[in-house]
Amino acid sequence: MVRTRRLSHAFGVEVLGVDLRETLPDATIATLRGLWNDHGIVLFRGQDITVDQHLAFSRRFGTLDRHDTLKPFRHAENPELLVLSTIPVDGKPSASENVGRHWHSDLSYTTRPPLGSLFHAQILPEIGGDTLFASMGAAYDALSAKLRSIIDGLEAVHDYMGVENMKKRDPALVAELRKANPPVAQPLVRVHEESGRKCLYLSEQMTKVIVGMSERESAPLLRFLFEHSVDPLFTYRHQWARHDLLMWDNRSTMHLALSDFAPGAHRYCVRSTIVGTPSGRVVGAVAG
Ligand code: SIN
Repeated sequence: MVRTRRLSHAFGVEVLGVDLRETLPDATIATLRGLWNDHGIVLFRGQDITVDQHLAFSRRFGTLDRHDTLKPFRHAENPELLVLSTIPVDGKPSASENVGRHWHSDLSYTTRPPLGSLFHAQILPEIGGDTLFASMGAAYDALSAKLRSIIDGLEAVHDYMGVENMKKRDPALVAELRKANPPVAQPLVRVHEESGRKCLYLSEQMTKVIVGMSERESAPLLRFLFEHSVDPLFTYRHQWARHDLLMWDNRSTMHLALSDFAPGAHRYCVRSTIVGTPSGRVVGAVAG
């Protein structure tokens, strides 16, 4: 029997009394999977686990991504881990110091968005370093039936190069990311393949245009849907504690790594990513 506690009004659940250093029974994994599908994020506190234990637990939920489209941020020895760090390496800024500082669902700008991620907090600033999450299922459910029927069949173009802080990144790195990630059309409403729940699928900086419309026509609707999706009613702010392990479902949530800590403060976290069902199609250029 797994004990839980809700994290916010809209979504999220904390699991109590589970030690991720142990190999959990299949029945417990099935329960956790059900919680993940239903609640979007699942939190375990106080998990002082090794990299191998993190990866072994992650593998219980599916095949691990080797982060081929995010090579600059991969762990040097282990491609199944992504490093989200502000700690300089050899005197140079960390490649991932500005990663995730915008609302997004991971890899929505590719045709292989992951099922979800397992994020382990290892070094944290004294204050801040929080992550915001939004329930895209709750946001969809709160729309009027008329608007839901209008957007249900639409696609929108996602482009990684839309991320504003790309300008702050090393140009050679940006060129590499551009080459690996051409724009992709995704459904504006994604159906979660396990729960059947409909979820909004867009984010402010990366979703550029609705397919079949001009940018001018799309902009007001995209703006409304984006602002609606991050209404506080549908969000949860996670204040990390050392050794938190948090799983987010990438199909029904999005997230934003906040710059809410002192410049130069150290934050070091690692993430594994579970391969998902392919979605979307490459469109090559940002056009309707
Ligand atoms: C991410 O994986 O998008 C980064 C999240 C975070 O650093 O809080």
